[in-house]
Amino acid sequence: MNDLYDRHRAVLPDWLALYYDSPLEITHGEGRHVWDSEGRRYLDFFGGILTTMTAHALPEVTKAVSEQAGRIIHSSTLYLNRPMVELAERIAQLSGIPDARVFFTTSGTEANDTALLLATTHRRSNTILAMRNSYHGRSFSAIGITGNRSWSPSSLSPLQTLYVHGGVRTRGPFAHLSDAEFIAACVEDLRDLLGHTRPPAALIAEPIQGVGGFTSPPDGLYAAFRDVLNEHGILWIADEVQTGWGRTGEHFWGWQAHGRNGPPDIVTFAKGIGNGMSIGGVVARAEIMNCLDANSISTFGGTQITMAAGLANLNHLIEHDLQGNARRVGGLLIERLRAVAAQLPGVREVRGRGLMIGVELARPGTDEADPRAAAAVLEAAREGGLLIGKGGGHSTSALRIAPPLSLTVAEAEEGAAILEGALRSAY
Ligand SMILES: Cc1ncc(COP(=O)(O)O)c(C=O)c1O
Repeated sequence: MNDLYDRHRAVLPDWLALYYDSPLEITHGEGRHVWDSEGRRYLDFFGGILTTMTAHALPEVTKAVSEQAGRIIHSSTLYLNRPMVELAERIAQLSGIPDARVFFTTSGTEANDTALLLATTHRRSNTILAMRNSYHGRSFSAIGITGNRSWSPSSLSPLQTLYVHGGVRTRGPFAHLSDAEFIAACVEDLRDLLGHTRPPAALIAEPIQGVGGFTSPPDGLYAAFRDVLNEHGILWIADEVQTGWGRTGEHFWGWQAHGRNGPPDIVTFAKGIGNGMSIGGVVARAEIMNCLDANSISTFGGTQITMAAGLANLNHLIEHDLQGNARRVGGLLIERLRAVAAQLPGVREVRGRGLMIGVELARPGTDEADPRAAAAVLEAAREGGLLIGKGGGHSTSALRIAPPLSLTVAEAEEGAAILEGALRSAY
């Protein structure tokens, strides 16, 4: 293991952060469990960053991938591709967007980059509204709409980005307000901002901020924003890379917590749909998708093997109502963690919905973020046989819990007990 770590350090970039003092090599997985190279088994509550969405080694996906690999893996977007058309039809219908068109990419970053290209071209503006504490990917354009310093290595950008309030409910200047007042204050701020700037192309927002520590506004904020955006013709892009496909339990898409006046103009997705196969994509009304006046291809986007995996994964998700499972089991898990948190002064907040749960840590007796405690809990959970993630805005002080959506009640209980032990060991 150490040998592999040394080799990693010698040949890969320094900024490619690894979890754990002694980094882990995961060699295989099954269901909600993974094994490391020393044969230790872990309950996986992070799913490779919310990407193993249904289960590790899901037989339907394995079968679809191996059968497709035996026929054809790839042909490029220059040729008709049956699995790509089939998955696009399913996603267009599930998106709720009228007359929808789907474009497949290989990552969430590239999906957001495409959404930015579409919105800026359609609106003939390179001004973008993004949320503070946001994360949308690692490319030059995506970094330009990242409102999180830890993930923002450059201020150079092809875009002019204005950061809006509202993605973080319990910190910042409006934290003390009631939900209704919070929404009103954020809307007021947006109106004020629009009075001072050139007309923006779009607002891009994660319904629940992922890298930002699973923070979200009160339900309805983006619907209230939309009323203002509509007055100016500004597009709404929902980045559903983490929140899509039922992860939040109550809704299939995260935007539906804000959907009073219909679906967004553009939705981007990635991570879970391929259960680990690299699928990203954009879905938008035809009028927006078709606004480009030059050719575009994606060599790897929509390749047969990834589309076959996506179709098998989506079918499994829907046939087994994993969204309902996320709501039920996630609801039990969050209640259990809230009960633990009530006894621990270092837990500032347990938040989230479905199987997307954040536990923010603060120095006991203060409101000060506690990244050291978060790192210690991450290590202790691993020692106990549980993998979780972490994230956060000003500092990485939120634990992120996002198991595959097939999590059982017994596994939720087992993971919660390990996490409780890890939290108690840190305080
Ligand atoms: C909300 C969100 N958007 C976009 C991305 C970028 O996706 P990818 O890492 O597949 O490029 C991420 C990745 O974590 C994300 O969380």
